Amino acid sequence: MKKIRIFSGMRPTGQLHLGHLAGALTNWVALQEDHDCFYGIVDWHALMSNYAESENTRQLCMDVLLDWLSVGLDPEKSCIFIQSHVPQHAELFLALSMITPLGWLYRNPTYKEQIQNLQNKDLGTFAFLGYPVLMAADILLYKAEKVPVGEDQNAHMELSRELVRRFNHFFGENLLPEPQTLLTPTPKVPGTDGRKMSKSYGNSLYISESPESMWDKLRTMMTDPARERRTDAGDPDKCPVWDIQKVFNRDPGQMAEIDKGCRTAGIGCIDCKKALNAHIAEMMEPFRERRARYAKDPALLSDVLAEGARRAEAAARETMAQIYPAMGLITRADRV
Ligand code: TRP
Repeated sequence: MKKIRIFSGMRPTGQLHLGHLAGALTNWVALQEDHDCFYGIVDWHALMSNYAESENTRQLCMDVLLDWLSVGLDPEKSCIFIQSHVPQHAELFLALSMITPLGWLYRNPTYKEQIQNLQNKDLGTFAFLGYPVLMAADILLYKAEKVPVGEDQNAHMELSRELVRRFNHFFGENLLPEPQTLLTPTPKVPGTDGRKMSKSYGNSLYISESPESMWDKLRTMMTDPARERRTDAGDPDKCPVWDIQKVFNRDPGQMAEIDKGCRTAGIGCIDCKKALNAHIAEMMEPFRERRARYAKDPALLSDVLAEGARRAEAAARETMAQIYPAMGLITRADRV
């Protein structure tokens, strides 16, 4: 039976945290068991907003790759690659740009919001306006049927589907399939200060964290601010540690005990944190083993990327071989 094709991408932002794990990667790892998965580190997308600090892009990509592999994305099961290694992404981006009305791009809520919020960067570029067109190209190049992304990508996904309809209208019925969003319930993981976990807030628990520093961060985490003394009763619903328990504690019986213990001052915050730390440490043990294996042999990482790019490009060529004639272009004779 033919497996459903999946594409998803992540911008190379450097070390990933437990928010990325719970919000995306755990699902990506599960999908590789029974889907045909393509996962791209989308470095061109990163440059669209970070072109002025491009020096670190290479390192950021390698950090993401190592995190992906350590959580269990498996190059034997999934195609793992870097977007810029497969030139057809840029080619299809150009092809789609022929039929992308500027109005669609100017109306994109993400564009408007980012132009507003990132005033320290000059985002008034041609490429940044076209961000969703490159994202559509990423997906359509592989004719991916399902795209696991968060709700924040809804507008981009809708634009991808509108582009498919427009492409098929001009250039040939049903050459490209409309990609569906694979919305998975993604538990929110707060950072150590209770705000959304984000590198820029300095409140992140990283996938690459050592057991010692993980415990250090959990131990000093803020809890229900009203629970000042060990003898005060607490309210888990006002505690960021509890929100993290809800995502990573695998023992419902223990959860019930902690909930009751907190509310009755039967246990202290440190007891709750120790329990959470044990669950996270157990989950991360295999991450560390895989990381160590890849980190000690950099050639392994290059091999993963080379093999990923080779497989991705083979799939991309098949699609482009249909796009060229559909758009009225002559396919190079040695590419037929
Ligand atoms: N825009 C996505 C994000 O910011 C990243 C991305 C680029 C992507 N291309 C994609 C996601 C293709 C899914 C499919 O998260």
